[in-house]
Amino acid sequence: MSQQNIIEVQNLSKHFDLVKAVDDITFSVKEREIFGFLGPNGAGKTTTIRMLTGVLKPTAGKIFIYGKDAWKNQIAIKQIMGNVPEMSNAYMDLTGFQNLTFIGEIYGVSKSERKKRAFELLKKFELFKRKDDLAKKYSKGMKQRLLLCMALMSNPKILFLDEPTSGLDVQSSIIIKNLIKQYNQEGMTIFLTTHNMDVANELCDRIAIINKGNLIRLDTPENLRAIEKKYQAIDLYPSEQLNISELEKLAGIDKVKQIKNYYHIIVDDLHEAMSQIINYTKLKNIKIKKLNTPEPTLEEVFVKIINRGENN
Ligand SMILES: Nc1ncnc2c1ncn2[C@@H]1O[C@H](COP(=O)(O)OP(=O)(O)OP(=O)(O)O)[C@@H](O)[C@H]1O
Ligand SMILES: [Mg+2]
Repeated sequence: MSQQNIIEVQNLSKHFDLVKAVDDITFSVKEREIFGFLGPNGAGKTTTIRMLTGVLKPTAGKIFIYGKDAWKNQIAIKQIMGNVPEMSNAYMDLTGFQNLTFIGEIYGVSKSERKKRAFELLKKFELFKRKDDLAKKYSKGMKQRLLLCMALMSNPKILFLDEPTSGLDVQSSIIIKNLIKQYNQEGMTIFLTTHNMDVANELCDRIAIINKGNLIRLDTPENLRAIEKKYQAIDLYPSEQLNISELEKLAGIDKVKQIKNYYHIIVDDLHEAMSQIINYTKLKNIKIKKLNTPEPTLEEVFVKIINRGENN
């Protein structure tokens, strides 16, 4: 994968009166990567994407796209980007096909090329059979697919997608996710936002975790999963009190905390810790009433990272 940074964001902020929707974030997106902005509701994802796509003027900071100041070169930059905003809509009184040729015309695509591209896109996004139906007759998933087709009519170099699969059924989500991967493999850089860990994990080369306007971690899904391992734990319900410092000396165990009638044991090595605990309790003649291994989901790790306010 080429490593050239094609989006550079420096100390970007957007304040709405007292609300710091985006607060001094710095990051860059490499050419041909799928870059994900992941965060809970109100984190600042849409505000960021609106600044990147030239819809919203930043309060402070700079955005460079292909080395050009995005705010000063809006027209040139809009030519190379496709954009599917969060709350957008196709033209409801045009058919799917007409929506695409209309957008193609706006982008200056020639008439014959417009039709060719529209047909290709409608086929890829499994809308071809319904191409002559008015967009208002489309389901939510079909409308979202049509919006993607519209954004792709100009053959963009960078595609911005704000929550591309949010609220859609499985079929539409799969079609969209597969095509995002396909366009990326063909060379398109994709910037997407999501509040869904699984979507970010499945699609993205790198994920920026954003919360309350701050970028709190930027890493590959693999590295984020490695953090997840730090939180592997065993919940042990013994028949009587245990000695915490003795437990903490056992191989594979990192930390032990007593919570009501059980012990929450953070482990370095789940397998080793489990067999050590079983041997230890046998030796002490203590019965194990229950033993759980609450594997943290990436979601929990995400929440923990946010709660701890980690900075790197
Ligand atoms: N036009 C606006 N005027 C005032 N406040 C705004 C405006 N747009 C966004 N905000 C505020 O900025 C913060 C970030 O909002 P934003 O829409 O960027 O979040 P988000 O991460 O996209 O959330 P969601 O997952 O719900 O889409 C919120 O507190 C929101 O209320
Ligand atoms: Mg949003």
